[in-house]
Amino acid sequence: MSIQLPEASNFSVPIDRMFDAMLVLCGSVALGVFVVMFWFCIKYRHGSDANREGRQSTKMSLEIGWTLIPFVLFVGMFAWSINLWTLLRTPPAGATPIYVIAKQWMWKVQHANGRREIDMLHVPLGVPVRLIMTSQDVIHSFYVPDFRVKQDVVPGRYTALWFTATKLGSFPLLCSEYCGTDHAAMTGTVEVVSPRDYQRWLHASTALPPAKRGRQLFVQFGCSGCHDPGAGIHAPDLHGLYRSRVQLADGTSVIADDRYLHDSIMLPSTQIVAGYTPIMPTYQSRIDEEDVLALLAYIKSLGAEPSAVQHGGAHE
Ligand code: CUA
Repeated sequence: MSIQLPEASNFSVPIDRMFDAMLVLCGSVALGVFVVMFWFCIKYRHGSDANREGRQSTKMSLEIGWTLIPFVLFVGMFAWSINLWTLLRTPPAGATPIYVIAKQWMWKVQHANGRREIDMLHVPLGVPVRLIMTSQDVIHSFYVPDFRVKQDVVPGRYTALWFTATKLGSFPLLCSEYCGTDHAAMTGTVEVVSPRDYQRWLHASTALPPAKRGRQLFVQFGCSGCHDPGAGIHAPDLHGLYRSRVQLADGTSVIADDRYLHDSIMLPSTQIVAGYTPIMPTYQSRIDEEDVLALLAYIKSLGAEPSAVQHGGAHE
């Protein structure tokens, strides 16, 4: 059916089909209930000479039939939707990462090579794109109706969303979580262009690659004074940190993922690395989320997980 919106991503058609099926299924059940209800209302209305003696016998086949058929239909809907949900939540391994930062009241976007844009999101046609999103202030929600995708964007954590655009053109981007005065004006445009045009657009930029910008900030914010190898102060070495396992002072351990690195910058006293004293100041009010992403890009550039490093080393 899809009466209203364009179907412009890989999710549009499957979600519309499921919506249609649910509408038909629930509509038929409601219709059935109402037909029987009206029929009884008329048949047993006041003054009618219908037989009102209670029937004592039951038909087992009827009982089983009207229990089992709806059961199978609705469990079928559940299986169908959980399948689609899993697809929606599982970005393919090679998806192009793009960072999105929401703030009152705009969408800031950063592409892999450092090119940035506001209230616009350029994506290549037919290529899976993975958005990694966070908020600078309150909860927002990234919503592209024509793509049938929506995801909350939450301060203090990274949420993800993926899709493959299947139509060229401009599609509205909305915020669908009330986030203050100008919530309704927090709109943008998703611009779907050919992969060639996307590459050309990406490289028509003089922006520093995120890892390079991250290094600049690393020096500027004074991180290098403690965390560079050979620095006078005893602070954890960041080489090969990303995706490695970190022993914490409380005896537990964590994998150094994006969330851990983010929190270590913004809330350094929450997870102390074993063998170190909690002397690092918080950067929560001093660094915005865009700069945190640049710092993360720099830290990631210092080495992947140890096994991958060893693997790469064996070939050199
Ligand atoms: Cu941002 Cu509503």
